[in-house]
Amino acid sequence: MKKIIAFAGSNSKVSINKQLATYAASLVEDVETTILDLNDFELPVYGIDLEEDKGIPDNAQKFLDNIKSSDGIILSLAEHNGAYATVFKNIFDWMSRIDGKLWSENPMLLMATSPGARGGATVLEIAKGRFPYMGGNIVADFSFPSFFDNFSDGKITNEDLNTALKEKVNVFKDSL
Ligand SMILES: Cc1cc2nc3c(=O)[nH]c(=O)nc-3n(C[C@H](O)[C@H](O)[C@H](O)COP(=O)(O)O)c2cc1C
Repeated sequence: MKKIIAFAGSNSKVSINKQLATYAASLVEDVETTILDLNDFELPVYGIDLEEDKGIPDNAQKFLDNIKSSDGIILSLAEHNGAYATVFKNIFDWMSRIDGKLWSENPMLLMATSPGARGGATVLEIAKGRFPYMGGNIVADFSFPSFFDNFSDGKITNEDLNTALKEKVNVFKDSL
């Protein structure tokens, strides 16, 4: 059975991106799914001096191992000031010091959501522009707007948005 991982680019305990990633993963049938949380991979803030003094922390390697041993990735990015949330940028930077092609060409469903109408579209565009240079194989992407108007009890409540996500999930599933 194929293995997928799903996680959010957030360290919020009530992350809306983790909720969306978890829901999207639940729609992928006949796979073994692992939901990851960046809070379980705590890391110091990246710095070249720290890296030279102490090396790369184990948690960066551990998260990278999860990516490498998966057949597909569902990632939903939080948007902070039009960019990656710090916790995501930090682990991304640490992992890139181990392997510049960290995403390993694994098929990826890349998403973003926010409480706003743009649904994290800005950070999504940043990632879509960058990940392909780093082994990223984004087979589908999805910006989910106005999270609190359209999502409740672990599910998308807006029918059109639910249909749109299911189409993206099918593309992802077919690429595994
Ligand atoms: C420092 C900070 C900056 C933010 N900047 C943006 C932003 O640029 N665009 C946006 O849509 N939401 C922004 N937000 C709101 C986040 O989208 C919101 O907190 C969301 O819940 C983050 O996702 P998460 O719950 O998965 O962490 C910001 C929130 C914080 C705390």
